[in-house]
Amino acid sequence: MAKIKPKNNVELNKMRAAGNLAARVLDFITPYVKEGVTTNYLNDMCHKFTLENGAISAPLNYRGFPKSICTSINEVICHGIPDDKKLKNGDIINLDITVILDGFHGDTSRMFYVGEVSAEAKKLVETTYKAMMAGIETIKSGSQLTSIGWAVEKIAKPAGYSIVRDYCGHGIGREFHTDPMVIHYGVNDKNYDMKLKKGMTFTVEPMLNVGTFETELMTDDNWTVKTADRKLSAQFEHTLAVTEDGVEILTLSPAGYTYPPYV
Ligand code: MF3
Ligand code: CO
Ligand code: CO
Repeated sequence: MAKIKPKNNVELNKMRAAGNLAARVLDFITPYVKEGVTTNYLNDMCHKFTLENGAISAPLNYRGFPKSICTSINEVICHGIPDDKKLKNGDIINLDITVILDGFHGDTSRMFYVGEVSAEAKKLVETTYKAMMAGIETIKSGSQLTSIGWAVEKIAKPAGYSIVRDYCGHGIGREFHTDPMVIHYGVNDKNYDMKLKKGMTFTVEPMLNVGTFETELMTDDNWTVKTADRKLSAQFEHTLAVTEDGVEILTLSPAGYTYPPYV
């Protein structure tokens, strides 16, 4: 994999501020995620909050993406586009927020429950959160990038879930998506591996599916990605910085939110 330049302390402080704001957008929107609201409404609220805090929404016009956040409901794996459809009781939804603050990106997503959701959905969502955290916990200066995917797999597989292979985590900084490519399943391939160094920043954002890992890109909008079998999918995402003896999660929730229900 390409050489990755670690960030200096000035850059890291800007990454901290961007990550913190992205997490605060999710904290802010949490009480609004309920039955009857449209994903356009959530989009507009997040967009406004982001601007009020001196940042911009990275997705808007990114490679032609038409909205400010991604809203991915039920069988949508990622990159769902906000629209005027209302959330309904039993839906699970991922809100993925990326802000640009002072030139640096912060990228984070969480799942939300709409009303009362099925036991199957809750187990998927909780397992996905645990899988993300297990991946993150492998990170420190000198650890291998591919340890992340093995740790995710160790949680996902025994629970019976598949891991999406077509979409990955990514390096992040002044640019939205850079090297390294962060694979969320177990892989033995030097091309996808590297030794992590203090100051590297990237995301961990596993997507777990109830059924097949296979994805299908919707051709009507060329963004929305669904599970090929239309079974449920869940995702969480944090932006991280590698430290000497571990990892700093740059997108921790100031409200203390982890996985739903958020009370
Ligand atoms: N936030 C997504 C990620 O985690 C990327 C969304 S790209 C967009 O990498 F254009 F759909 F917004
Ligand atoms: Co990301
Ligand atoms: Co994201």
